[in-house]
Amino acid sequence: MTSAKAGGEHRDTFTRNSGFIFAAIGSAVGLGNIWRFPGVAYESGGGAFLIPYLVALLTAGIPILFLDYAVGHRFRGTAPLSFRRIKKPVESLGWFQTGLLFVIGVYYAAVIAWALSYFFFSFKQSWGEDTATFFVEDYLKADEPGVSTTLVGGVAIPLVVVWLAVLVVLALGVAKGIEKVNIVFIPLLFVAFAALVIRAVTLPGAAEGLNALFTPHWDALTDLDVWIAAYSQIFFSLSIAFGIMIAYASFQRRKANMTSSGLVVAFANSSFEILAGIGVFSALGFFAYQQQIAVGELEGLTGPSLSFITFPAVISEMPGSAFFGALFFGSLVIAGFTSLISLMIGVSSAIQDKWGLSRRTAAVSVSLVCGLISIALFSTTSGLFTLDTVDNYANNIGVVTSAILMSVILIWVLRRGDMLRRHLNAVSTFKLGKIWLGLVGVVAPVFLIIMLVQRAYSVIVDGYEGYPTWYTTTFGWGSVILVSVAAVLLTLPSWKGRDDPDTFLPWPPLPEDVRGSGPHARKETVR
Ligand code: ALA
Repeated sequence: MTSAKAGGEHRDTFTRNSGFIFAAIGSAVGLGNIWRFPGVAYESGGGAFLIPYLVALLTAGIPILFLDYAVGHRFRGTAPLSFRRIKKPVESLGWFQTGLLFVIGVYYAAVIAWALSYFFFSFKQSWGEDTATFFVEDYLKADEPGVSTTLVGGVAIPLVVVWLAVLVVLALGVAKGIEKVNIVFIPLLFVAFAALVIRAVTLPGAAEGLNALFTPHWDALTDLDVWIAAYSQIFFSLSIAFGIMIAYASFQRRKANMTSSGLVVAFANSSFEILAGIGVFSALGFFAYQQQIAVGELEGLTGPSLSFITFPAVISEMPGSAFFGALFFGSLVIAGFTSLISLMIGVSSAIQDKWGLSRRTAAVSVSLVCGLISIALFSTTSGLFTLDTVDNYANNIGVVTSAILMSVILIWVLRRGDMLRRHLNAVSTFKLGKIWLGLVGVVAPVFLIIMLVQRAYSVIVDGYEGYPTWYTTTFGWGSVILVSVAAVLLTLPSWKGRDDPDTFLPWPPLPEDVRGSGPHARKETVR
């Protein structure tokens, strides 16, 4: 079989399975683990939240992670190329996912830039006593939701640094860039974060913090919002249904144990999430103890407020503030950066697949365009509000829609579920039973549809965070519409990549490929 016939043989690949595992963990463990999980768990039933969280992980998270792996590994392409190889019109779903990567990437980089600034602020606790005023007014110079052209240098400069670093990693490619960065940074991240957690749990008041996080509120289990929060957290956190894992699986060698690696990735991600919960709430317990109040009386326990307002205040109170501040914000930068490069390689490789650009040209074009948009939108005085709005709509509407479409199209419309299952079983030691089809084809989409309806209804009726309607329409719905239109338009140009999307031989051949009309039966017609 020549490379042209097999398709994808000249792809830049991970050099070893551990490289893939580290990269996939690097993608999964990100800002979502540190700034979202602890607060979401606390607000959604505490210890009882672990039940919907585990259910979401087992019924949708891991099954859809495997679906992503199966698509990318069998069809050896980023989302647009893989879906196109499955069925021509489905290419647009691949561009929808790539568009989401683009949208998420441009604001995600801004948060890493904030964390980078705060890493340096940690040494002197430059945030002072009033950390909220410092973050919103002194650092971000945030005014109001709107369209501002006033650049904030303190955000724009680290943002340029972040995009330059992205450019370098993308230009180095999968083996020399992504794999090496993750092999160095992921162990470093686990060690740095473990040191932080060990210190946090030994502080006075830590036990109260952990009680606040883990005391179960069983009534939360009857609240639909709690279940939705669990599914939403799992999707963002595992980086599934937005093309990253499809791209990473396409960079895996053909003989690779996909499902077992997936289990390692999923459990490493959840373990880090729980670790982050323990660390963050122990530190909050200590902070509440210092102020002689209950943990429940603290404010700003989720999202940006937790990391950039509450945590700096906690750090200032800790013995060895500078060291622990640097550890916390350094961890945030590393966790965020290893996720950002996964988002952006999904975009640059999709462009390479379609237009056959060299890796460097794709890396420079993607980093330049995304960097400029990122700076223009998120390092201005309205950046905070734009970021919050785009994040909400891209995740709660965009990613959920993508997951539903992927499941319905692959499992119900094209009926490729069993073929994908047999592909994973042919290359992996952990075999998937037919129950996997039930999970990706029924349980996950049913839940996701309920979630989408609830989230869409809530933003249509109640708006979002009290922002003006024109604003949420422009930036929130606007991003989803932009991605949808791009998804259709990008299917129009013809393929110029090295891999012809129409003459592809999947490997290993499955019975339907060899018999009848499958691609292996038409070998002689393949160029
Ligand atoms: N999975 C990445 C995160 O959790 C995107 O932040």
